[in-house]
Amino acid sequence: MEYLDFAVELARAAGDVLKHYAGREKHIEFKGRANLVTVADKQSESLVIDAIRRRYPNHSILAEESGALAATGVTEGQWVIDPLDGTTNFAHQYPFYCVSIAFEQAGDVTCGAIYDPVRDEMFSASRGSGAFLNGQRLTVSDVPKLRDALLLTGFPYNMREIIDTVAGQFRAFLMESQAVRRGGSAALDLCYLAAGRCDGFWELNLHPWDTAAGTIILEEAGGRLTDFTGNPFSIYMKEIVASNSRIHDELISVLATWRNHLR
Ligand code: IPD
Ligand code: CA
Ligand code: CA
Repeated sequence: MEYLDFAVELARAAGDVLKHYAGREKHIEFKGRANLVTVADKQSESLVIDAIRRRYPNHSILAEESGALAATGVTEGQWVIDPLDGTTNFAHQYPFYCVSIAFEQAGDVTCGAIYDPVRDEMFSASRGSGAFLNGQRLTVSDVPKLRDALLLTGFPYNMREIIDTVAGQFRAFLMESQAVRRGGSAALDLCYLAAGRCDGFWELNLHPWDTAAGTIILEEAGGRLTDFTGNPFSIYMKEIVASNSRIHDELISVLATWRNHLR
């Protein structure tokens, strides 16, 4: 629990940085045509990195804006950080963004915290101890069928290069589910799935910092994560399908049918 408590503490402190800049953030840089970075991303990240460096110099760090930072000596684990997931939303004052912090040991994410400063919602989990929202235990929904399911997704930053794939999958799920939403924060999408606020999620080309904390929160709430063909998910994969477990096979089969249509 030591690492989880620390992740929660850091996520809240970084969330306070986002609150400070919310609505007054005017200076936006572009990493790509639609890929933004703001002072809030940078300040949030340096607060988290500095705190980890002070407390655990023997841990390595993988953070969105700084990349991979080595530990002093042989690493005993890695922190995976998205200092602001939902930067486009944040820059437009659309209130759906968060901080995501996870700890990974020997390739396994062992704990994670995701904090939404707008709603003061702290999602957290550690391996084998359950998932929580502000201290209340989380469980995925029990919706058994895709046709009754609310799905979430996101559009990758390289969407314009793979628009047929992105739009084709979106269309296939629109036709088969009850409804699809696109919120703009993959980390919060996974938390909402863990909380039973929706039933399934898929996305292409996410990064480890988008999904690391969300994977453990969802798994501990009873959810399932794979790639598009049903192989167990790793945060280093480029395809993610996540669900309440019950509709998972149907999600995979929609993707397979869509793929077969292309042949
Ligand atoms: C983005 C969000 C979004 C997803 C993008 C991500 P960022 O992260 O998670 O929901 O669709 O692919 O890159 O850039 O706001 O940290
Ligand atoms: Ca992100
Ligand atoms: Ca980010």
